[in-house]
Order: sequence, then structure tokens, then C-alpha cells
Amino acid sequence: MKAGRARLVAGNWKMHGSLAANQRLLVALKGSLKPVSGLDYAICAPFPYLAQLSDTLAGSGIVWGAQTISEHDVGAYTGEVSGPMIREFGCRYAIVGHSERRQLYGEGDAAVAAKFMAAQRNGLTPILCVGETLEQRERGDTEAVVGRQLDAVLNLAGVAALRSAVLAYEPVWAIGTGKTASAAQAQAVHQFLRERVAKQDGEIAAGLTLLYGGSVKPGNAVELFAQPDVDGGLIGGAALVAEDFVAICKAAESLA
Ligand code: PGA
Repeated sequence: MKAGRARLVAGNWKMHGSLAANQRLLVALKGSLKPVSGLDYAICAPFPYLAQLSDTLAGSGIVWGAQTISEHDVGAYTGEVSGPMIREFGCRYAIVGHSERRQLYGEGDAAVAAKFMAAQRNGLTPILCVGETLEQRERGDTEAVVGRQLDAVLNLAGVAALRSAVLAYEPVWAIGTGKTASAAQAQAVHQFLRERVAKQDGEIAAGLTLLYGGSVKPGNAVELFAQPDVDGGLIGGAALVAEDFVAICKAAESLA
């Protein structure tokens, strides 16, 4: 564990799964992953499967969460799912601000910050995603973009809110593309993010769990996770294949 920080490997199933396929995957994960102190394993699944996760994973040492959350707790918001509902299924985490939500569903910084607050208000740990597009990286805007995305949450929630949150750097150009950020590229942005938080509170920055996401695979996980400011990963495609997800978790374990 780096500098005493909690670490996390979280699977993001996105809109994949079926009751039968999930069951096979979850049983395989349960059989292979044992609790490790200071390192959490989590699965973030589509809403209809949260009951299945709760039934199958309870007591296993693998925790679970949702992939988004409404900024409201109750009311006339057709199609939305609220924090209190998610909480009833025993979720630990809620992803907020994933780039697919930002890009495909028009979630802006203000909406993401409101969702972050909704997660915390309901006892869920938000996994706040930030990341730049390829165009933004090539223009040299990476730090400006991720800094703005982080600031939107810091401004609304305050730096103390990061005591019970996880931050995930997910370069948009690396998500689902097979193009992983190099370990040095990931480390550079992680360091930038940690330093930005440290400007407001050094102790909170030092304890903040920072994940890398974007084409993490068994073959690159060790190098990425070994970086000084990388505390684990948010795993998309490879989280759908039991042996790949287990291998990535074992990579994190090996660095404990
Ligand atoms: P990927 O997705 O691992 O398939 O690139 C990561 C994510 O979107 O969280």
C-alpha cells in the first residue's frame, strides 16, 4: 500500500451482462479473490443487477456499486435511480462523471458535482472520473481539462469531501480503444491531480485514492499500478472476463 493509502480495483461492467452470465462471472471472482487489507475489489454493474450482486457477493470481500446516480433523492424524475434506492442494495460505490455519461448523455461539470454530493449524502463513496479527449491532449489542454473537472466538485463539495471519495483519471482516448496511457503519462496526470488537491489540503491529498482507467489489461496492470500516484484501476472490458479481472486484481495485490 503506497504511503498508507487505501487501494481499489473496480470493474465497470457498463451496459453488459445477463443474469446467467453475471452469475458465472461472480462465482468465478468469488472463488479467486480473497480480501486483502487496504485493497478493495469492487464491481459496478447496471441497476437491474444490483440485487444479484448483493445476493451473490455478500460476505465475499468483493463490494459493489452503481455506474451513475441521480442528483435527486426522490421525486418526479422518470427513468432515474436515486442514492437511497442504490443504498438499499448494499452498494458501497457510485461512479460519477464517467466520460460516456459526459459525452453521450450531456452531463456537465455541474451535474457531475451534484451527483457526487448525492452519492455522499446517501452513504456511497463516489468514484469521480475525469479525463481529456485526444484532441484536448494534443492541444496541450490535459491539465486544464482535468483540473476544471476536479475543481467543479471541489468548489461545490469542498476539499474535505475527498476524504470519502475516489478519483479516477480516465483519458477518453484510452477507454475501450486498446490504447493505454503509458505508465509515465498516467503518473504525470495523477501527480498533477494530487498536487491540485494538496494546494487545498496536503493531508487529504496524501490519503486520496487515485485510480487509472482506460484499457487496463493483465499485461499492463503491474506497470501502471506501480506508479507512485496510481492506487489501483477502473476496469471496463477486462472486467467482463473473469481471468483477466482476477489477474488485474492480483497485479494490485502483488504490489501491496
Ligand atoms: P476500458 O474502460 O477498461 O474498457 O478501457 C474503462 C472505463 O471506461 O471505466
